[in-house]
Amino acid sequence: LICCSQTPHILAFLSEEIIGGHEVKPHSRPYMAFIAFVDVDGRSHSCGGFLVKDNFVLTAAHCRGSSMKVTLGAHNISIREETQQIIPVAKAIPHPYYNLKDYSSDIMLLKLERKANRTKAVRPLRLPRRNVYVKPGDVCYVAGWGQLAPKGKLPNTLQVVELTIQKDQECESRFSRRYNKATAICVGDPKIKRATFNGDSGGPLVCKNRAAGIVSLAYSDGSAPGTFTRVSSFLSWIQKMIKHC
Ligand SMILES: *[C@@H]1O[C@H](CO)[C@@H](O)[C@H](O)[C@H]1NC(C)=O
Ligand SMILES: *[C@@H]1O[C@H](CO)[C@@H](O)[C@H](O)[C@H]1NC(C)=O
Repeated sequence: LICCSQTPHILAFLSEEIIGGHEVKPHSRPYMAFIAFVDVDGRSHSCGGFLVKDNFVLTAAHCRGSSMKVTLGAHNISIREETQQIIPVAKAIPHPYYNLKDYSSDIMLLKLERKANRTKAVRPLRLPRRNVYVKPGDVCYVAGWGQLAPKGKLPNTLQVVELTIQKDQECESRFSRRYNKATAICVGDPKIKRATFNGDSGGPLVCKNRAAGIVSLAYSDGSAPGTFTRVSSFLSWIQKMIKHC
């Protein structure tokens, strides 16, 4: 059982902006987590994530770093809102098969130093049901803070974009060996400009009020589709880590 290790490694794809989305009603996505961390070169970064248990946040494995800290209950991330709960990360638990070369198993659990208090602004998101899968054409949502767009004048409030699940072949031709349909989902219609995106890495793809995916890999020009980690492929690992770590 690999619960945690301390060495941060090179980070390749960090938060990018949501393109073609709109601001959400404040606290309408109470599971959203803003994750701040420092990379090996000492630079600050952020990722999205989501609360799955009172003391566990799920995110992408490539969002790993040191001094990790989670903010829950936020809307405008650049101010200290009363609804916010800021909790340091006690343990980062990246999936043992996570591989920087092909981004397979890009999933990580963060155990928080203490439990979050459930409020109207802070509440976990449900994991997908076993053996229930998203299919091409399903419409889902991704939210993120779009914090790090270079020089962009961003409001720093939570944004959301609607995205459509694509056929696996779309991502197999675009990402070749970096797309594995057993562990990833292909998301975002290339024909709809409005809906193309680079959602905050680590944020949830929410389909029918459950966490179907995790923002993983896309081209930096924001063109669709992108690849998301398929949460349903990791349910046993998630449950085991939450129980034992
Ligand atoms: C939860 O509430 C308790 C009691 O009000 C407080 O002491 C604690 O700091 C809160 N936890 C967080 C994570 O904000
Ligand atoms: C978020 O807070 C910053 C800092 O106070 C402010 O400049 C910005 O206008 C706020 N954004 C929104 C959309 O309220």
